[in-house]
Amino acid sequence: MSAPTGALVLEPTADGSMTLFSEDFGEWFHSRQGAYAEAYATYVEATDLARLAQAPNLTLLDVCYGLGYNTAAALDTILRVNPACQVRLVALELDPRVPRRAVESDLIGGWPAPVQACLQDLASTGQAQRPWLEATLLWGDARQRIQTVKALKFQADVIFFDPFSPPHCPELWTVEFLGQVAACLHPEGKLVTYSCAAAVRTAFRLAGLSIGPVNAAGRRWPGTLAQVSALGLAPLSQQEQEHLLTRAAVPYRDPTLSDSAAVIRQRRQQEQTASDLVPTSRWRKRWLPPHQKNPLAR
Ligand SMILES: C[S@@+](CC[C@H](N)C(=O)[O-])C[C@H]1O[C@@H](n2cnc3c(N)ncnc32)[C@H](O)[C@@H]1O
Repeated sequence: MSAPTGALVLEPTADGSMTLFSEDFGEWFHSRQGAYAEAYATYVEATDLARLAQAPNLTLLDVCYGLGYNTAAALDTILRVNPACQVRLVALELDPRVPRRAVESDLIGGWPAPVQACLQDLASTGQAQRPWLEATLLWGDARQRIQTVKALKFQADVIFFDPFSPPHCPELWTVEFLGQVAACLHPEGKLVTYSCAAAVRTAFRLAGLSIGPVNAAGRRWPGTLAQVSALGLAPLSQQEQEHLLTRAAVPYRDPTLSDSAAVIRQRRQQEQTASDLVPTSRWRKRWLPPHQKNPLAR
């Protein structure tokens, strides 16, 4: 997949921090309820990072680094709770313009100075080395770059999983890609994403992970926490469980990790048409008030 070339349009969010709109993917990079707030609540708090950072070492994988806000919220938290923590961070990002734009337009000015300096180094050189930090930003399609991460035998304590939504970026929500990501998760590690889409949750399960709901800032629907073991996960509600029995739960597939978004969407649609699962409209009628927007989009 080649790097996007469409415009990146600046947009303020409700907490005063800025986000971008991607013309290529037709989506905002963050919740417009607050981009910085989302990084803290949906990623840092949901993974209990402040507690995990009490350990002498912490290993982080940031899938879809973007403007670097999730990484920034993590580094800020670690420096506040335990500056002695030795951090190893790998981040994946397709579009080098995005982290550079964040630095050049001073969208990162709200983070503490040492964190900003790390984001600047990552955007310009792909590396940030400090006595307490070894961070690498790997450019390119995450479907290929994850192989490099796997080859390093990287076992993340925490994975932030933040692609554009499944309908807009299905290539990063497939059973196959999530299987590669799951292989980089430590047996006691936590992966978090803002999405509660049934297709995504099914894909996590097929990738061998247990799932539970988690508060997602600025969104009406919960996010998803995924782990190797189910220990400590909140149970899915009846509504969420029934959602996984509908056609919405047919996952995206990409057997060679190289198909286009259009091919992946079409493959899923064919599988949905042939599926014995109940139509999602029945679930929607039972659980959602009339005219409520379909939550499956994000
Ligand atoms: C929702 S944004 C991530 C926001 C980011 N976590 C932040 O804190 O700013 C999704 C990101 O995924 C990147 N992306 C899209 N397709 C990708 C791919 N195939 N591989 C790696 N990154 C990809 C986009 O360039 C974009 O930066």
